[in-house]
This record gives sequence, structure tokens and C-alpha cells, in this order.
Amino acid sequence: DDALEHALESLRAGEPILVHDAADREGETDLIYHADAVTPDAVARLRNDAGGLVCVALGHEIAETFDLPFYADEIDHPAAADHELGYDDRSSFSLTVNHRDTYTGITDADRSKTIQALGEAATEPAAVDFAEAFRVPGHVHLLKAAPDLLAQREGHTELGVALADAADRSPAVVVCEMLDDETGGALDPADARAYADRYDLAYLEASSVLERLG
Ligand code: 5RP
Ligand code: CA
Ligand code: ZN
Repeated sequence: DDALEHALESLRAGEPILVHDAADREGETDLIYHADAVTPDAVARLRNDAGGLVCVALGHEIAETFDLPFYADEIDHPAAADHELGYDDRSSFSLTVNHRDTYTGITDADRSKTIQALGEAATEPAAVDFAEAFRVPGHVHLLKAAPDLLAQREGHTELGVALADAADRSPAVVVCEMLDDETGGALDPADARAYADRYDLAYLEASSVLERLG
């Protein structure tokens, strides 16, 4: 059966998918859910089974509607003057947020509240007063997709948003890098694929997503 179709069905059904970017980019596999499907159990899975940074990627226009900048463009600090990434022209980081109905913001319940609310906000952005619903800084990192999505940047940010679009869902996904508990490094793609097989999850290579959706 078709891995892309399996992935789109999974996003619609609230199940996670795995997406590996490329050996010559980050060389990382992210565990990805549509944001509005994220329960406390899903946050636990992200931190236990993936282990990287839990981030919500938003489509460019929606991020603009919410007045969310690229972090590096806003911060007036010498460390932010030169971006210098080894694997891309720039990072997609925007602000960090918590939903206002959270306490510390880090618990599984708090992060799922924030993430789910971001998913819902992305469904009807014009109806949302972002600052009324969320506070900055917080414990969920926002990522802002490139304006021309995969034509401009081939990160997990754009891959995740493009897959949400293709699944006819709002452009808001949670992403988290799969790390190897033994080595502390990025989980080897073969091991990420084995994890996907064990739980019957869709595993995609960015190259195949770009062929179909790019
Ligand atoms: C945030 C990151 C991750 O790599 C995430 O996948 C988003 O970044 P990119 O779009 O560059 O892949 O840096 O933890
Ligand atoms: Ca772990
Ligand atoms: Zn990435």
C-alpha cells in the first residue's frame, strides 16, 4: 500500500507519522501529529519515544495572521546577527507559547492544551485573538513555514505543513526529532523505520514527499 496515503489517513485519524528529511540535510526523522489530535498521551509519546524538541509548525499565512515573526528577525542580540546553520539558510523558529489556561506549561496536560488549541486556532485564524489565548514565552516552540513552502525550504516545518494541507487539515502539526537513547544522536533511519513498522505507522522520506507534493 501507498505510504503517502497511509500518512495522510493517519494525520486525519490523529495518528503519528514519521518523516526523515535527507542524509545531506539534518539527517533526522521527526515524529509528527496533526496539532488538533494531540492528547496528553501523545505528548508523552513525543518526549519518551522521540525525545527531541516538541514544536508546532504553522503555515506561513496563519503565522502572519497571528503576528508571529521568525525569532531570528526580531531578537536584537549579537548571537542572532549571523544565523549560520550547517544544513539550511535559516531556522524556522518563531516564538515559544503556552495557552493561557495552563499553569507551568510543561506537563503533558499543559502542552497538549497548548498544542491542541494551536490546531484549533489554525482552523479558523480570523476568529482568534492570539494574545488573548496564548502567552509568550512558553513551553511549546512555534515554527513558521516558508511562504512558498516546499518550493522554498525542505525542512520538517514545510514537510509537515504540506502533508497537513494534502490531508485537508489545518496547517498546524506538532513535530519532534527521534533521538537514539543509546548514542544520544539522531535515530538512524533504519531504526526509525523499524519503530514505524512496530507500531504500524507511516514512514516517509522527504524525497518521496517532494516528488508527490513539491
Ligand atoms: C526544531 C527543529 C527540527 O529540526 C524541526 O524538524 C524543524 O526544523 P526544520 O524545518 O529545519 O527541519 O530544529 O526542533
Ligand atoms: Ca527517549
Ligand atoms: Zn527538522
